Amino acid sequence: MRKPFICGNWKMYKTVAEAVAFVEAARGLVAGAEGVEIGIAAPATALKSLADAARGSNIRVGGENCHWEKEGAFTGEISPGMLLEAGCSFVVLGHSERRQYFGETSGVVNKKVKAALAAGLDVIMCCGETLAEREAGKTALVVEGHVADGLAGLAAGDLARVVVAYEPVWAIGTGRTATPAQAQEVHAGIRELLARLFGPAAAEALRIQYGGSVKPENVGEIMAQPDVDGALVGGASLKPDSFAKLVNYR
Ligand code: PGA
Repeated sequence: MRKPFICGNWKMYKTVAEAVAFVEAARGLVAGAEGVEIGIAAPATALKSLADAARGSNIRVGGENCHWEKEGAFTGEISPGMLLEAGCSFVVLGHSERRQYFGETSGVVNKKVKAALAAGLDVIMCCGETLAEREAGKTALVVEGHVADGLAGLAAGDLARVVVAYEPVWAIGTGRTATPAQAQEVHAGIRELLARLFGPAAAEALRIQYGGSVKPENVGEIMAQPDVDGALVGGASLKPDSFAKLVNYR
């Protein structure tokens, strides 16, 4: 059985003080959540304080991005090892905002995935089509490209530390969620692809999150789909009570 993983993605929101206040308010609200993994991906400046504040709770802390090198002359970048040292246990890679605004290709994402895993971080790797790509009938092609290229060169055993997040770009921050059936269709396609690439056992065990305007009101119907194993949530993860409702969706 795949353990559902509900993860907040704060994007460029929350100062150190706001992040700490969030965890102090949220940790009690989510403490009773059984059988659910809980995470928050936060801005780099807040990670250390957030991880300290979350210690002893069931909330995992992760980065929203990292570089693929261990160190070097890469002004403005952060290495996987630095995230680990700050208290992170995972990192989100290849988010559509990284692809769209910062020119990340699947080749770059692949280098980051390998570096993060090698450093000891778990990875949430994002994939998803734009509205134009969906309307052109290219959803499967685009999503499968993101997944196959992003995970290229990994061994089946590496997948135990990878989560794939399917986030249709047209559903992110728009209030327009994929229907549960649309999400399920793409998730099933991803799992079939993974089975071809890495074998059925690794594909069956890998968790696939859905992301894109997930809210307390719709999380239940999305999570009820057989191949949806979690959610990556932006806007609705920013308030402790809303985050707690997402986590306690059952
Ligand atoms: P949203 O963002 O929940 O605000 O749509 C999701 C994401 O980008 O991870």
